[in-house]
Amino acid sequence: MPNGTLAAYLDFAPREESFRDVALAGLTRHRKAIPCRFLYDAPGSALFERICELPEYYVTRAETALLAERAGEIAARIGPRARLIEFGSGASTKVRLLLEALDKPSSYVPIDISGGMLHPAASAIAADFPALEVIAVCADYMDPSRLPTLVAATRDRRVGFFPGSTIGNLTPDEAVRFLRGCRTLLGPGGAMIVGADLKKDPRALHAAYNDAAGVTAQFTLNLLARMNRELSADFNLKRFAHEAVYNEGAGRVEIYIRSLMDQLVTISGRRVAFVADERMHIEYSYKFTIDEFRRLAARAGFKPLDCWTDSEDRFSVHYLVA
Ligand code: AVI
Repeated sequence: MPNGTLAAYLDFAPREESFRDVALAGLTRHRKAIPCRFLYDAPGSALFERICELPEYYVTRAETALLAERAGEIAARIGPRARLIEFGSGASTKVRLLLEALDKPSSYVPIDISGGMLHPAASAIAADFPALEVIAVCADYMDPSRLPTLVAATRDRRVGFFPGSTIGNLTPDEAVRFLRGCRTLLGPGGAMIVGADLKKDPRALHAAYNDAAGVTAQFTLNLLARMNRELSADFNLKRFAHEAVYNEGAGRVEIYIRSLMDQLVTISGRRVAFVADERMHIEYSYKFTIDEFRRLAARAGFKPLDCWTDSEDRFSVHYLVA
């Protein structure tokens, strides 16, 4: 019986992936690239929190306003006694809007790779929703087939929640693979609620990823600072620049670190050469039309049922049936 404390905390965190191996492999390829998941060390996560507050970065505000406004409708779609499974739950902030609106939700399963974030956030939800069974799972949610069986072990309806447009940081093929894994986990009759950022005026997208205060630039360049801290690298951050461009043809913001000159950098004892203007790829942030997102979900075997947008049509939340 739920009693205001965590019903379970499952630690399935993968063995620490070596930042050194991934960074060196990425820096020694023909087209240099480092995966965006390495942006989120403690300083990077704090910078991302600041990005969410920036006047130009509408994403978090638009989605939160939309969820606050539509929580009742979304809850009605979900129905009573559901198990809500959140992929990448972080501070479990937005999910509160749904939990407050839902009719007697039976359980909440927040999944996050960072135990430091997960434990306090899940405990706070358990304390604030004493009738809810809260099962916290520390794991890499990107491959849902490898999650502990307890995540899906319920007779109640399973509903996945993946807010924040994190789906946009995956390539379309990766997004389809992830959603397919979710569909299997949620089972027949399950559903998925996904936040996806919408295509819009390229100037608004440019501003959102090139803010006047330079916080997004700090966030990107923190990756170099992280290599200095953790991999004994000697990047001079003044010799590199953040670059974010909207590629309209591909429908995505592309984020790079550009070398401002020919230079040699040492990382973990290895020397890496950069030529002037060379770009290292860091992140994609895909933007969708409603139909594009529905087609992507259909490729993963979901039936798109509802779509809500905020009052300025900047952001969408989709309700997909497994
Ligand atoms: C986490 N993710 C949805 C953000 C985005 O908008 O793609 C990451 C980000 N990168 C720079 N600004 C925000």
